[in-house]
Formats: sequence, structure tokens, C-alpha cells
Amino acid sequence: MKKIQISFICISIWALLFVLTYASHDTTGCPSKHPDAINYDSMTIKLEENFNQAGLNTTLWKVGDNLARTDQQFQLYTRDNVKLEDGKLVISAQYNPTILDGKKYDYTGGYLETKGDAGFKFKYGYAEAKIKLPQLQVQDSSFPAFWGLPADNSRWPYSVELDIMEYCNVCSGNDKNDYVYSAFIYGNRQQYGDCRIWYRSPMKQLDFTQYHLYGMLWSENEITFYIDGVANFSYIANNPSNNPSIGCPIVIPNREFYLILDFAVIQKSAKPEQYNQPKQMYVDYVKVYDINIK
Ligand SMILES: *[C@@H]1O[C@H](CO)[C@@H](O)[C@H](O)[C@H]1NC(C)=O
Ligand SMILES: *[C@@H]1O[C@H](CO)[C@@H](O)[C@H](O)[C@H]1NC(C)=O
Repeated sequence: MKKIQISFICISIWALLFVLTYASHDTTGCPSKHPDAINYDSMTIKLEENFNQAGLNTTLWKVGDNLARTDQQFQLYTRDNVKLEDGKLVISAQYNPTILDGKKYDYTGGYLETKGDAGFKFKYGYAEAKIKLPQLQVQDSSFPAFWGLPADNSRWPYSVELDIMEYCNVCSGNDKNDYVYSAFIYGNRQQYGDCRIWYRSPMKQLDFTQYHLYGMLWSENEITFYIDGVANFSYIANNPSNNPSIGCPIVIPNREFYLILDFAVIQKSAKPEQYNQPKQMYVDYVKVYDINIK
């Protein structure tokens, strides 16, 4: 019954908007207005970082330097884990016991965000990075990611993060397979109690040790994650959750975000022998485009 009502609402709204074509990829409910495939020619570039300079552009990037990001984090981010090499950004994670402010960290990782001297933040558009991950192991504690947070550090209207690419198979404790995923995470404790939505689009068929394009198209009512320019999954505003045990509506953020690239280690699960060599994530480029979604 509920489902029928939702379909009816979708159809009425579209009829009003005279929208005639829809994408066919999976969504949280109403069909997506975002394209099944990205047409790069139809967009205007507003950030292009190819990592071709001799040194990292600190006007754009701020590198985590002895950064312990939150209480529950894991390892220490150090500057030496972020390098440029042959036109690629190389972010490492390694077993490297370090003591900082009396606290011991067994692992160090790399972290950078678009919060340099001038920085870069954006609201709506298509963000994409070309990334290659190391060969990871089952129950690997590695946690490489390309993601974004609100530029004003707000938690409005929910705590929210946009995870364009993550690999974290020990995060939920029961993911035993190797796959990368995108996620749209937010929680609204005031309105819905401890409501927290953590949607994931697993990309199991992917050989993530090769370069792939991990993208996110973000417009007023919808966020769609793309792999190699092909839509994987859309999260559409104002739909009941597709997780029956939670049932929160999806709210699409409407403020500026900055972008983050990092390689963390989940220290509580990590084994030094998984790090006989430092693990490395390669980033060929990061681009953000404006796109006009009607
Ligand atoms: C460095 O980043 C800034 C801010 O994005 C940009 O305006 C500038 O062109 C970049 N410099 C180089 C050499 O790419
Ligand atoms: C896209 O996401 C779905 C889950 O929504 C998943 O089953 C599928 O494998 C993904 N496709 C690719 C190419 O990764």
C-alpha cells in the first residue's frame, strides 16, 4: 500500500514538471533525473587538478600533518604519506609506530583536503577522481577514501558525509568481501531519534587495483554515484528510506562541501604483517564540473 502511494506521488510530481525522460539506474524510490552516463562535453569544468606540478599546490590542498582526526580515529596522518610522483598523487598508509602528545599510534596514513590557502568548495555539480587502490586483503584494516564534508563544519541539517569512494571491509564488522563502495551517510538525532542512514552501493565487479573513475553528481534533489561515468545508484530527496528498519526521509545537503582524499588504517583491526610494505593509493586527477540539471 505504502509503495503504491509513493509511486503515485512520483508520477504526479513528474506530470506537473513535464519531465519526459528518466534514467534507468537503481534509486531509492522515484526514478532518477540524473543521466545513466556522464556526458563530459555537456559540463563546465570548475576544478581541474592533474597533479602534474613539481610540488603539491598548497593554494588548493591542505595536507594533514600530525593530524589525529577524531577520537575514534585510527592512526596518525602525517605529511610524509602524501607525495607527488610522475604526475600522480600518492597517498600511503604504513605500520610506523609513532608517539604524539603521549599517545601511541601504530600506523600512519595520508590525508589532504581542498582547504589550502585559497581552497576549493562547491555546492552541486559533478565531482570525480581517477583512483587506483592497492591489492587489499580480506579483513584488511585499510581505509582509503575520496569523500566530502560541509565546508562550514556544520552538522546541518544532519551530520552528513558524501563518500564518493571508500574501501573499508572491517567498518561494519561483517563485510568479508573485497569491494569498494560509495555511501551517503547522515543522521538526524533531533527529529528521528537515533536515526542514521548509511546507504552503500557496492561495486563488487570492480578490479580496484586498476584505475577507475569514481564520481558523484549532486543536484538539489538527488545524489547519484558513478563508476567510470556510469550511474550506479541515486539517492533521491523526500523518499522514505529503502531501509525498512530506519524509515528516515532522505535529505540532500544544500550547502558547500570541500573534498578529501585520504588513506586511513583502522588500528583496532590492523595487523602489522598486512603492512610489510606501505600501501599506496594513486590519484591521477580530481575534477569538479558544473552541470545544469533541470
Ligand atoms: C593551484 O590551485 C589554485 C586554487 O585551485 C588554482 O587557482 C591554481 O591555478 C593552481 N595552480 C596550479 C599551478 O595549478
Ligand atoms: C551498482 O550498485 C549495485 C547495488 O546497488 C551493485 O549490485 C552493482 O554491483 C553496482 N554496479 C557496479 C558496476 O559496481
